[in-house]
Amino acid sequence: MSGKTALRKRGSWRNRIAFYLLAVGSACGLGNIWRFPYVVGENGGGAFLLIYLFLCLTVGVSVLIAEMIMGHTKQASLLKITRQVSIQNKKPFYWIGRLSLFISLVMLSYYSVISGWVLHFITQFLVGLFRDDKLSYLKTINMTVLSENGSLQFALASVHLLICGFIVVKGITERFESILKIILPIFGVLVVLLLARSLSLPSTEEVLRFLFYPDFSKLNLTSLGHAMGHVLFTLSLGLGILVTFGSYFKDEDHLPSVGMRVTIVDVLISFFAVLMIFPVAFTVSTKQLTDPSLLFESLPQLFMKFKYGEYFGLAFFVCLWLTALNASIALLESLISNLSDRFLKTNRFSSAWMIVVVTLFLSVFPAFSGTVFNNVKIFNQSLIENLDSLLINYLLPISVLGVILIFFKSLNEMDYKNKFVSEQSESSQMIVGHWIWLLKWFTPFLIIMGIVLQVLNLFLVNLNG
Ligand code: PHE
Repeated sequence: MSGKTALRKRGSWRNRIAFYLLAVGSACGLGNIWRFPYVVGENGGGAFLLIYLFLCLTVGVSVLIAEMIMGHTKQASLLKITRQVSIQNKKPFYWIGRLSLFISLVMLSYYSVISGWVLHFITQFLVGLFRDDKLSYLKTINMTVLSENGSLQFALASVHLLICGFIVVKGITERFESILKIILPIFGVLVVLLLARSLSLPSTEEVLRFLFYPDFSKLNLTSLGHAMGHVLFTLSLGLGILVTFGSYFKDEDHLPSVGMRVTIVDVLISFFAVLMIFPVAFTVSTKQLTDPSLLFESLPQLFMKFKYGEYFGLAFFVCLWLTALNASIALLESLISNLSDRFLKTNRFSSAWMIVVVTLFLSVFPAFSGTVFNNVKIFNQSLIENLDSLLINYLLPISVLGVILIFFKSLNEMDYKNKFVSEQSESSQMIVGHWIWLLKWFTPFLIIMGIVLQVLNLFLVNLNG
């Protein structure tokens, strides 16, 4: 079955709630639960959170709606639309499709390594089930073994990628999605339970002050770029995934409302994650707030406070891994359907495994960043930190600029205005002009500004030694 046939088939099921769950599932994942908290910690809390929220509700939601409208109107992948636009305009816009493919490939390798970390925690909690000294064992669950062992990280990333490849090649993505539809609500309930327990810890007041009392002196030249990058990453923008998604919808679906709801749920989950993790992190040590291991170092401490903590821990990390698997499948599916149409004249089976092998090779770099490549420091940062920053804070925003360009080149004004405005929604007639302005001027301006300020910061930091 080709990627596109799968895509059409998936378009045929019409259960509304299930559909929303999948739309939310495409956005929610490690970005919300693992990355968001430490990025907020790194950028000083409240003031950054405000910028993030503002960008989500302006830039994020506008681009999300634009990607879905483009997919719905054109019924094609981003790469295909880019090619059509390039041919029509006799101008080389090919770089946009290619850049998004390149980012997807590197993103998949990086995402797989972090998903491997989640697998490691699943294993540790599983072992905990069979121990007599459960409480003292739970205390020892941490990142230490993993950080010192690059081969283990690589092995776990490989397991994750192979499972991902297997699901895609076997064509059982839909079956996996039906599992996810059950898992997502369970995950939601678990997060709320943990949140409630976490908010009863003594450090809550301090956390709430840190998060909701904006201290603007904590902002610096990189804050805008970091917030922008994370907004685009958490909503899965700039890679054509939402373009593909938009083509599943029926004509009577109002895409701007879908976009708005998905964004709100995504923001809520991210906020829940921060509120769940920070009180524990503040109690244990505030030092690790800025560390990518924040989630993994703090949550086990919270599970210890529950009667059946080992079961909670296991369930939480299994749910988290399944959402990560879902995101990885989306990336792999989109790579296959784009590549098999254009570059690889082979079948779906070979293209899938070829991509998995290339991704596995690329995942060597983040996996061994703390061990074999420990001495490789660029701008005073480790390989994995540079990779994260390059991908999310620079390349993804540039790719979004390209997607916006393709949007305006491939659709005429009537097309997108008609899709945006709905007779049932009076407000849509009032805000359509604002949406176009946000997309055409505001978003590109802020993206460029974010990148320029980050580059300026790099120069200043290096000049100061
Ligand atoms: N949005 C996903 C998350 O928050 C990450 C992702 C980005 C997935 C891009 C696919 C594509 O975890």
